[in-house]
Amino acid sequence: MTQADVIFETLEKVSDRVGDPKERIYARLFTTHPEFEELFVLDVDGGVRGSMLESCFNCITGAAEQSDLPRFHLEAARMIHDGYGIDEGQIDAMFDAIRDTFRDVLAGDWTPAMETEWSAILADLARMGRAPA
Ligand code: HEM
Repeated sequence: MTQADVIFETLEKVSDRVGDPKERIYARLFTTHPEFEELFVLDVDGGVRGSMLESCFNCITGAAEQSDLPRFHLEAARMIHDGYGIDEGQIDAMFDAIRDTFRDVLAGDWTPAMETEWSAILADLARMGRAPA
């Protein structure tokens, strides 16, 4: 199985098991980083959270498919979020929250291949779009 197969398999299995994982992912993010929750107070209908999560999924699937788009996307996101007081390294916490939520949801069905490929993709995403040191 390729990395993309493993990533898509995870997304499919999570969706089969719990439907839309959005609430769980944000709950996890706000548990590990309570300081981020207040940044979303104006997002009363959850629309911003939904479209932000979709962007994150696009980065993950794009990276698995070796697309260049996640790099541009993340370069922009790191810059824009800096304006919300989130420094460029902190935004990777969202990808951690996604992977950790999926690992919990799949529990005994989380495979060693998933562990390997999600670690690899998170490391790739963490390197993308960073300002030169
Ligand atoms: C801990 C990590 C993150 C936090 C706390 C965070 C926080 C936020 C906040 C507060 C907003 C709303 C800003 C506003 O409209 O006033 C936002 C919007 C957005 N974020 Fe994030 N972000 C994180 C990670 C990411 C990542 C990894 C991406 C991936 C590309 C991303 C993509 C976006 C996009 C596209 C929007 C605009 C959504 C829309 O208005 O339609 N964010 N983020």
